[in-house]
Parts: sequence; structure tokens; C-alpha cells
Amino acid sequence: MNDLHISDSVRYIGADDTTIDLFESQYPVPNGVSYNSYLILDEKIAVMDTVDRRAADRWLENMDAQLQGRSPDYLVIQHLEPDHAGSIGLLLEKFPEMQMVGNAKTFSMLPKYFPGGWADRSVTVKEGDTLPLGSHTLTFVMAPMVHWPEVMVSYESSEKLLFSADGFGTFGALSSGESWDAEAARYYFNIVGKYGVQVQALLKKAAGLDIRTICPLHGPVLREDLGHYLGKYDLWSRYEPEEPESVLLAYASIHGNTAQAAGKMKEILEKKGCPRVAFIDLCRQDQAVAVEEAFRCGRAVFMSPTYDGGLFPAMDHFMAHLRDKTWRKRKAAIIENGSWAPAAAKVMRGYLEAMKDIELCPTVHTIQGAVKDCDAAAMEQIAAELLS
Ligand code: FEO
Repeated sequence: MNDLHISDSVRYIGADDTTIDLFESQYPVPNGVSYNSYLILDEKIAVMDTVDRRAADRWLENMDAQLQGRSPDYLVIQHLEPDHAGSIGLLLEKFPEMQMVGNAKTFSMLPKYFPGGWADRSVTVKEGDTLPLGSHTLTFVMAPMVHWPEVMVSYESSEKLLFSADGFGTFGALSSGESWDAEAARYYFNIVGKYGVQVQALLKKAAGLDIRTICPLHGPVLREDLGHYLGKYDLWSRYEPEEPESVLLAYASIHGNTAQAAGKMKEILEKKGCPRVAFIDLCRQDQAVAVEEAFRCGRAVFMSPTYDGGLFPAMDHFMAHLRDKTWRKRKAAIIENGSWAPAAAKVMRGYLEAMKDIELCPTVHTIQGAVKDCDAAAMEQIAAELLS
């Protein structure tokens, strides 16, 4: 169980969701997810974001237990995605005097989710504006595209807390006790990874703040060794691999021949000294893990059969994902399978050539059906090029 005590004045009131199958209807979350929300209790009371409607009942119970009959003055809306903003309407109905605090973008987008938008209850803030609550003061820092355009984070100066919105979040319900490191990378690369430039901009602003605790909207509250988390975010958002020598070997196979070739390729890479091969069957494993590994490793091999005159769907889907996440700065190799009119390599090359700073190995090999001795020789050559 993660420790949720922040301070006497700042309370965790979020809720776990352990019954959700797919986060954003696409990412398996076997250990669930948490929708974090916080309460700052001072002369004025601020609620920091709401939660997904799925968890609204538990969140309201948690809030009532901490409020002890008082009413919040402000709801700070850092992010409008429904996993955080889904319960805004409930809160506004429950506390008719409460005002919403957001930026101009927040309030231009709010009516798209909540027609009407309660314009008369909005307090608009911009970069550097402050909200005094008593002994606590919030300062707002705009963080557009980390992960939506309206995102802002909030710094509380008396306790040196950074409320970081989706930034520094992770999958996994807090009750699972899972560490931040276990799922933070899969979360980052799949949810925020496309926006490295914007994450870098936020990190530069954060560098000017004295931060003791990070309170994200998903996953554990981060208190110690903050350099570890900030360092990971800096590395990830610069698109640098954590394991430059490791290889992602991502393959798709229809009847098992390309899978057999992939197994052979793994063996060759390991014999040549590759420290770790992340071996992923794109047809059966979570593609979000494949995306995470693609960013973690410095090198990648893509192996796929031809299908319908093009690329087999599982590989096509994966490479489209990498393109959309702006995967870059890596060395890559291509191996296709096609017993007549092979076309997979051409499509894979097209994807890779359209990405930034991808060094493609010169040898591209075509397996024709089953793996033969000549294929092993070609794979030896490709492995040598990839690891050089
Ligand atoms: Fe956790 Fe972008 O919402």
C-alpha cells in the first residue's frame, strides 16, 4: 500500500479503479489505475481536480470525511480529460458556492464536456498567477500538451508541493502497492510520449521551483529522491534510450515461420553480445509494452510477413503507433517474409524513413516461407550491422 499522507493540511482524496479493463479503452491495466485528487484545507479550501465518474462515489466519501462539514471554496481544474474532470458537474451541484479555477483554454473547452459550462463560477488564471488560501498559496504554471492543450500544474509554496497533473503519473491502483518504476514508462510513452518537447518545457519551469513532493493525478505521491523521477522524465522526453545497447525484437507471424526466424535472430543477437533482447510477439502481447520497449532500447528489429499486398496488420498497427508517438533517434533493421510478391519490407521502410533520426541497417532480408540456412546467414549480417 502506498503512503497517502501528505500533511495535516493537504489530504489525498482520490480513488482507485480496480475494475477497469482498458485505460483510455486501449491500455490493459491488470493492476487498475488511480484517479488522484487532493484537498488543501486552509482558511479557504481548494479541491485539486475531480475523478473519473467511475470512482465518483468513493471520491465524494473521501472528501466528506476530510471536510468535516466545511465546504470547498475552489475547484482547481488542471486537466479536462474525463478521467479527472468527469465529476466536475457533481461537485458544482453539491457545493453551489464553489468556484472553478482554470485557464482561458480550460474554460473554452469546458462547455464541450459540460454544456453551459458554469461561466459565472469561473476564475481564470494565467502563467504565474497565484491563489492565496491562507497560509498556503498556489501558483499556476501552464503545461500545454502535457497531455492536452489546457493542462496546467500548480505549485504550493509553503509545503513545496507540485501538483503535476498527468506528469509523473503511472498505471496501477494505489492499493496494488506497485512501485512507480513498474509502470511509469509504459504510462509515459503511451500517454504523454508524443509530447517530449512540451515535457522538456515543463521540466525547465519546474527546475526553477523548490519541490519537495510531487502529487500527480495517477499513481503514488512522490516524496524522496525526486531526482530519480525528474531524471527519467528528462531522459524520456529527450527521446534518449535508457538501454542504448539493448534491442527490441518485435515480430508478427501468421503460421509460425516468422516467429521461428525471430527466435533465431534473438539467438544470434545474444551470441554477438547484445545485453538484452526485448522479444515481443506483436500479435499476442500488449502493444503498449512494445512501444515502451521501443523507447527503452537503443536498437530495434522489425520482422513481419507480407499480407494483402502490404504489411501484416499487427506490425502495421505497431509501426503506426511508433510514428504517432514520434519514436526517433534509434538504429533499426528490417526482415520480411513473403513467398510470392513480398511487400512488407517496403512498407516498414516507408514508416522508418518518415521518422526522425532513424539509422536503417543497409541489409534488408526477405525470408521466403520457412527459415533456411541462407536466412540465418543474412540474419548474422543484419545483427552485425545493428550492433556495430
Ligand atoms: Fe489522466 Fe490525460 O488524463
